[in-house]
Amino acid sequence: MKNFKSLFFAAGLMIAAACLTFTSCTKEGPQGPAGVDGINGVNGVNGTNGKDANGSCLVCHTIANFDQKIAEYHFSKHYTGNTSSRFTKFCASCHTSEGFKQILGSGKYVVANDMPAANRINCTTCHAHSGFDFTADTVSQILTAISPVYLNYNKNLTATDFGALNNLCVNCHQIRGATALVYSDTTLTPDVINKSFDQLPYFPFTNSSDLDTVQYRVGRSFSVHDGNQSNLFAGINAYEYKGKTYTKTWKHSAFACTQCHMNEYNAADSTGGHTLRVNEEACKTCHGSDKLTPIQNLIKGKLTDLAELLTTKKIFKKTVNGTTGAISYSALPTHDFNGKLYPTTQTAGDKFATSSSNNTVSPTTGLVIYGNMLKYGTDADYAIRMGRPWKWGELGAAYNYAYINSELSLGLHNPNYALQVLNNSIDWLNAN
Ligand code: HEC
Ligand code: HEC
Ligand code: HEC
Ligand code: HEC
Ligand code: HEC
Ligand code: HEC
Repeated sequence: MKNFKSLFFAAGLMIAAACLTFTSCTKEGPQGPAGVDGINGVNGVNGTNGKDANGSCLVCHTIANFDQKIAEYHFSKHYTGNTSSRFTKFCASCHTSEGFKQILGSGKYVVANDMPAANRINCTTCHAHSGFDFTADTVSQILTAISPVYLNYNKNLTATDFGALNNLCVNCHQIRGATALVYSDTTLTPDVINKSFDQLPYFPFTNSSDLDTVQYRVGRSFSVHDGNQSNLFAGINAYEYKGKTYTKTWKHSAFACTQCHMNEYNAADSTGGHTLRVNEEACKTCHGSDKLTPIQNLIKGKLTDLAELLTTKKIFKKTVNGTTGAISYSALPTHDFNGKLYPTTQTAGDKFATSSSNNTVSPTTGLVIYGNMLKYGTDADYAIRMGRPWKWGELGAAYNYAYINSELSLGLHNPNYALQVLNNSIDWLNAN
């Protein structure tokens, strides 16, 4: 609203300045008779009169409405979260406002450089006017992005249309794609200069069989990151086993993200509207009972079953925190950074290459100096190593665990697909 007011204030000043010029030109002779009124402005579409700003603009532009939106937005994790404003090159596109606007303009999915001065996600990240003639779809005309999205995950090759409002969110709420790092230690043998971070083949990939083999090397990744809500919602990009059929759509497939996450504002618990938090009370007009808890409990149980099975198969390593007792799982590489197989028993003096993270921030520019190094050392995990490459089906199961686990809704965004993805992974591991 501040911008809006100051725009008209600026226009007023310009008119005052123009009058001053006229009154100082009195030597030109007497003023002629008044001219006739100009014709009304027309809009190009149907030749009708121009719009009355009171009717057209004040639908949104009242101080009360904007204050309300600001107050709601202060409950959103976009505003409160500590990762919004993460500015490094591979993060700024989704975690900062300026980064997001830059990639919308450049058509890339990584910004040109680190952006230390970038701000967290705010009103202008999502809002800009693409037009002022509000005859058709009012809301789309005030959003920064509504076009189909080139997903990072398929390397920007095809645009996927999730629907105009969804497309805005999906630009960020999608699988992250590669986060390239450059290793730059010149002192080591073998030479590791400019060996870039290696993302395992993107799913869905063209392997011929679930039994094909793949090295899961240190420095490679099949990570999907926390934002993959759009993929589960649309029932795409999980690892689907050969010969299995999957149900992609569900009851709310035609909904927009905003229909649940920006539903009716509820002041009692600060949900709905621009809080982006689901107002679950509003769901009860149709759903008499709690739909969410039973689904989330079911999916939580399946996730644990799958993680335990992956641990038994030596694909995952299970860690129990000594003080809190919290359990976590991580995928155990089959090969070191250079592709040397980790054996299941130790040979004295045997060394393996791993990466150690030591990016630094330049004190003068504030930019990150990407300087991850390789280091050689002994292995601590012989006893829990499988001692062979993974099968694609195993990679698929590990990936599917991450796909559902980091999606954060615990299956709610597509209950049937989530369950099939987990069940088929468990079945395949048990059978192979
Ligand atoms: C459907 C709601 C809506 C309508 C209708 C609307 N605006 Fe806006 N307008 C917005 C939003 C949201 C913003 C972004 C606010 C911010 O960035 O803080 C905005 C921003 C602006 C800005 C700031 C510059 C910019 O483009 O971001 C101007 C100027 C503006 N509007 C003028 C108008 C005028 C003139 C009209 C009527 C012809 C109008 N608006 C109608 C919602 C609307
Ligand atoms: C510019 C990128 C971007 C856009 C566009 C975006 N988001 Fe987000 N969203 C994020 C990031 C980054 C976070 C995590 C913020 C944090 O934790 O600091 C987040 C967090 C969230 C959360 C909270 C998640 C949690 O863990 O509590 C919800 C819900 C959400 N977004 C919904 C939406 C919806 C709905 C839209 C579209 C109307 C949208 N987002 C558009 C980047 C974006
Ligand atoms: C393609 C967009 C995208 C990119 C690029 C991206 N993120 Fe995120 N990130 C998100 C979204 C969306 C969320 C919010 C997910 C949620 O909380 O539901 C998020 C959440 C997070 C969280 C919070 C997770 C939690 O447990 O609360 C961290 C930490 C994070 N991102 C770090 C990073 C880092 C570091 C990078 C760069 C290497 C990065 N992100 C790049 C989209 C992205
Ligand atoms: C994550 C993206 C996002 C952010 C950030 C965001 N908005 Fe919105 N805003 C939307 C979407 C999407 C809609 C359309 C919602 C719908 O269809 O119900 C909308 C609608 C609006 C409208 C028009 C509808 C109405 O009820 O008047 C206004 C005004 C508005 N936003 C103001 C703001 C202001 C002010 C801020 C900053 C405090 C803000 N928005 C931040 C996504 C966003
Ligand atoms: C049918 C309603 C519905 C639709 C449509 C929907 N969501 Fe959700 N979403 C939920 C519910 C319910 C939760 C779980 C709420 C909770 O945990 O507080 C959730 C959770 C989330 C979370 C994690 C929030 C957190 O605090 O952990 C994010 C992020 C999110 N949704 C983003 C999206 C995006 C992006 C879209 C569109 C692609 C979308 N949602 C579509 C209902 C929906
Ligand atoms: C206009 C009515 C309507 C509204 C509003 C509505 N739903 Fe639904 N929803 C349905 C119907 C009908 C079904 C399918 C039958 C069933 O499972 O109850 C369904 C199914 C679901 C399912 C799948 C249930 C299952 O067991 O597979 C979830 C999850 C869900 N809704 C979440 C939500 C959330 C969250 C909201 C609020 C943001 C919401 N719904 C609002 C009508 C609605």
